[in-house]
Order: sequence, then C-alpha cells, then structure tokens
Amino acid sequence: MKTGNFKRTLVTTALPYANGPVHIGHLAGVYVPADIYVRYLRLKKEDVVLIGGSDEHGVPITLKAKNEGITPQDVVDKFHGIIKKSFEDFGITFDVYSRTTSKTHYETASEFFKTLYDKGEFIEKESEQYYDEEAKQFLADRYITGTCPHCKSEGAYGDQCESCGTSLNATDLINPVSVISGSQPIIKTTKHWYLPLDKHEPFLKEWILEGHKEWKPNVYGQCKSWIDLGLQPRAVSRDLDWGVPVPVEGADGKVLYVWFDAPIGYISATKELTPEWEKYWKDPESRMLHFIGKDNIVFHCIVFPSMLKAEGSYVLPENVPANEFLNLEGDKISTSRNWAVWLHEYLLDFKDKQDVLRYTLTANAPETKDNDFTWKDFQARNNNELVAILGNFVNRAVVLTHKYYDGQVPSCGEMNDYDKETLNEIPAIVKRVEDALDAFRFREAVREAINLARLGNKYLADCEPWKLIKTDAERVKTIMNIALQITANLAILIEPFLPFTAKKMQNMLNLDGLTWDDCGNLEFLEADKAINKPELLFEKIEDETIQAQLDRLEQTKIDNEAANKVAAPAKDNIEFDDFTKMDIRVGTIIEAEKVAKTKKLLQLKVDTGIDQRTVVSGIAEFFKPEEIIGKQVSILVNLAPRKIRGIESQGMILMAEDATGQLEFVSPASEIKPGSEIR
Ligand code: 2FM
Ligand code: ZN
Repeated sequence: MKTGNFKRTLVTTALPYANGPVHIGHLAGVYVPADIYVRYLRLKKEDVVLIGGSDEHGVPITLKAKNEGITPQDVVDKFHGIIKKSFEDFGITFDVYSRTTSKTHYETASEFFKTLYDKGEFIEKESEQYYDEEAKQFLADRYITGTCPHCKSEGAYGDQCESCGTSLNATDLINPVSVISGSQPIIKTTKHWYLPLDKHEPFLKEWILEGHKEWKPNVYGQCKSWIDLGLQPRAVSRDLDWGVPVPVEGADGKVLYVWFDAPIGYISATKELTPEWEKYWKDPESRMLHFIGKDNIVFHCIVFPSMLKAEGSYVLPENVPANEFLNLEGDKISTSRNWAVWLHEYLLDFKDKQDVLRYTLTANAPETKDNDFTWKDFQARNNNELVAILGNFVNRAVVLTHKYYDGQVPSCGEMNDYDKETLNEIPAIVKRVEDALDAFRFREAVREAINLARLGNKYLADCEPWKLIKTDAERVKTIMNIALQITANLAILIEPFLPFTAKKMQNMLNLDGLTWDDCGNLEFLEADKAINKPELLFEKIEDETIQAQLDRLEQTKIDNEAANKVAAPAKDNIEFDDFTKMDIRVGTIIEAEKVAKTKKLLQLKVDTGIDQRTVVSGIAEFFKPEEIIGKQVSILVNLAPRKIRGIESQGMILMAEDATGQLEFVSPASEIKPGSEIR
C-alpha cells in the first residue's frame, strides 16, 4: 500500500550548523523521528529518500573562526565530520549527507537565485547599515557590540542583548563598536535583494490556511500568526565574505543569506545522490516532507515555499511535522553554557546503547509541547520498559526454545481461545502503530510497538510453560510457537525505532529481508526452523551511572556560575610600606594530616627555608593530605602565631579563591629554593 496518492517521498531534515557538535535536542526534534519514518516507509517498500547535510554558512561560523584564529572552512570541516559521524553512530540512515560548501551546492544555489532574479522575482532596496572603515566592510549584526539600550549591559550584540534577552536593531546600541577592528562603525548605504513575501501572501493563505489544515497545530498556528501579522519583503543577500556569492553584476562582496542558500541545500544534496533528482523535486506525484525544529517553521513553511513557488517548477512540502524543543533537566539546552548531552560523549559513557537513547527520546519526544529529558527518566525507561518488558520477553522466548527444543521452532498444535485472542491482537497493534506513524505521532507509535512485547510477556506469564513442561509437553509446543511468532513480529515492528535491537533479534531468529507486510503474519517462523543463541538486548542501568551524569551537569552549573561571577571589587589602596611589612616566602609542605574532629582543617609542617614550622590551614575540603606533600606554596611567615583547635599555627598558607569558593595554592611555576622571598 502506498502512502496517499504519492509515488515517492522526499524526506528532508534541517541542516545543522557546522559550528558545534550535535546533541540530544537535535536527535529528538528532527533526526530520530525522520529516521523512524523513513525506515518505516522503506520496510513498506516505498520509494523514499532521506536527505541531510551540514549548514556551513552564516555569521556565527565566521565569528567562531575569527575567535579561534582559523578559517571558516576549517571550522566547518571539523564539525561536518563530527556531526556526520554522530548521525552514523546513532543509525540515522541518510541516503545522502552533504554540505553547503560543496561545489554542487554553490552551482545550485547560484542558479536558483539567478532564475528568480531573471524572472524579476526580487526587489532591490537600499538600506543603511553599519560599516567598518578600517576593515573596509559592512558589519553583520553579530559583528557589532555595544551597550544595551534596555539593561545597559556592555557587550550586547547588534541583534540581541544576551544579558536581558531583548531583540535589538544594530542602530539601537549605545556606543557601537566593530568586533573586527574595535573601531566605531559609520552608517553607510548598501543594496540588497529582497524576496517580496507580501506578494506571495494570498497564495500562502490559500495553500496553508485553507489547504493544510491537517498540519500539526503547533505548525499551523505559527504559520497563521505570521500570515495574520502581514508578511514583509525579506533580504536574501548579505554583505559578507563567507557564503555563495550573489551571481549578478554589481554584487561584489555580497553573498546569499544563509537562510536563502541552506534549504536549497536539500536540492543540491538530492542532486549529489541521484541523477534522477528531478523526479523527487518536480514530479507532482512526489511528496516532500520537512522534519525540523520549531525555530525553523517560518523558513520551511513560508520563505522556502515562496522561493519554490516563485521558481515555478518544484513541488511544495506536503507536510512539515515540526517538533517543539527538548530541555535538559529543566533547563534550556545551550551550546554556549555546555548544557547538553552531546551525542559523541554519550557513546563514550553508554557504549552500544544507541537504542536506549533513541527509545527515550522517542517515548518522550517534544511533539506537541517542549519536553524535558531527565537522566532518571532515561534510567526508568531503560530498566522498566526495555529491560523488563522487551528484553525480558524476547530473552524468555529464545532461551526456552533452546532449553526445550534445542533451538528449533516447535510446531503449533491446536490453539485454545486465549491463544487465538492473543494472536488476533497482533494485527490490531500493527494497525495502531501504522496509524500513529502515518500521522507523525511517534510517541504513540513506539508505545504501541512496545505493547506487543507486553502482550507476549503477559501471554508467557499466564501460560507458565516452565510449569507445564512437566505435565503437558504438547501444549508447551503451541505456547512457545506463539511466543516465537510474537517475537518475530516484534523484530519488524520495532525496527524503525530500535534498529540495533531489531537487527540482533532478527539474527537470533535467523530472519532476513523482512518487510512491513510480514507484520501481522502469524506463522512466518516455520516449525523446525533453527534459531540462534540468545544475545543480550538490554542491561539494567545502575543508580551510580545516572548519578555520574547528574554530577557532571552539576559541575557544569558550578562552572557556569563561576564564569558568570565577576571578580570581587578592588580594596582601598595601601602604601608600599604596608605591603613590605609582609614577609612572604616559598615553603615546601613536608608533612600533612587532618586535624581530628574537623572537616576543614589540615595540620601541615612546612619547610620555610628559615625553619620547619607548623601551620593549620582550612583547606581539607579541597586537598587530601597525601596529595600535597612536597608541594611548594606561598607562606606568610611573620603572621603572629595563634592557636587553632589547640594547635599553634605559625604563619599562613596563601591560597587563590575563585568566586565559587574553590581554592588553589599559589605556587612558583617551577621549583625554587624554600625561603625564596615573594615580593
Ligand atoms: O537552525 C538551524 O540549525 C539551521 N541550520 C537549519 C537550516 S535548515 C535548512 F534550511 F537547511
Ligand atoms: Zn540588555
């Protein structure tokens, strides 16, 4: 059965910016649902392609390059590789994963612009923009900083103040400064090309608001509010030296706006995939779907369709099943604050557990509202669902087959009503999974798929073959045959969601080349067929493992707080003579032990070069006694002695303390004789 009246499906996934690795939010919002959907269509033997790639233009990439003293190409080369590998590792089965710095893309984006230009689909407008006279270039909003007109913080960007979150126009900034040269920019006139979205408004109204009422409410609602507000012309070029050059005369120093070229990247990637790319893009019997996050809705539902419509020969998206955002432990995922679970790091801690993450992210996907990823939920889903339901059922079916029948499928004898009822449930579950997938309701789909394992578990628990084997061996054959048929169905049904697990199950059952049509087949494991030994599908995740992740996040919070805290203000000036009164020396710690019944105190013996003396120091929470023996430190030797917990402390070890209270020794950079003076 084909989906709708379409001959083929083109699935695109938002092209992630190649200026950082990808995290769980990317996976949950876009790539896992797209991969599930495409795997499902492939199992149904439909003609489908999954398109992906890296978005390698835009100002943030040029800024990152500048900050790191490398070229934008270096930045994108590095992250394109990391991102591509993460997707492969998580089983996202792109037919092509390209990049917008490819030659094909430059040609395709250029031609696209040129076609629209030649058709008179752009308007040209002049506008006033900041210009850096020293660097001789116009400044993108992110290239200008200044004082925020609202909260008066320094370092606000031309498009936003990150302190108070207000969106700004670059010309609103007080004391604007160019990030490139540090000079004060001037205002200069520049020319750009604009896509007149207002001209396409009547079409968009008709096509979306009348024609696509079936789109998800979050998507439809966002489109409606954009259209209701009234659409304005949008600039499709920028003054920048990184991007696809604007291919018309008089456009020196201008490139296509990243949001103009990026969606064309879907076309370029399809071209790289197949010479028959046009059948996916231009045949009205092709169905295009864009999988994206909610921040991309306007570009995929309004801007890109207007571009395609203006060009005239392309199909428009049939649906845009955009997701909301995934948060992490109650906070917005943030690259700059390192508040994320990075995919490449996850695999270091949870080797071979791709499916556990895929499952958790699907079961808890931000489909209709923002959702929260918590490590506790991850653990619970693994332990209570994957291990206890799916893993447990499959393991019992396979282990008992080996135990009772030497690994051969027993024949099915006469079935009782309960057997028939159980088997009849299978096509009903399959239907519910299909309905949910067809409507892009992935949470519901995966829940239904796991219900098949629940059914199997209940069946085995109710029938208790392990008891009956002693009294009614014939009956047990039927029970185990049914349990194995359920397992075989599961091995297909879960493939879109848990592909690594499905593969293991298919290996165990010695099955190959399964299709979606085999789902609901109640006898495709023939009697006497040999099956393989059980493999471990899932294992329990212990509290300590989860705690380690929570600790890491806690540390990130502490680091962020420290980074945000400003240094304490300077104290009042002192005279030089006051300073010289202090006799500070380099000393070496030669003994260290905890002061009994205290948490914070260590008793140290320090070789000061003058003598060996005892000092009591409040550093026990940060350093273990055995770790600091031999350490060179700074010691104030002429501080009047005082008793601390009954011990006479003769001097003070100087410590550096950051805003969070973290202590570090103030030590010479290389070894120096004890007694050396510090001044
Ligand atoms: O939001 C983003 O990460 C963009 N790089 C998505 C681009 S999607 C498409 F247009 F390429
Ligand atoms: Zn502000």
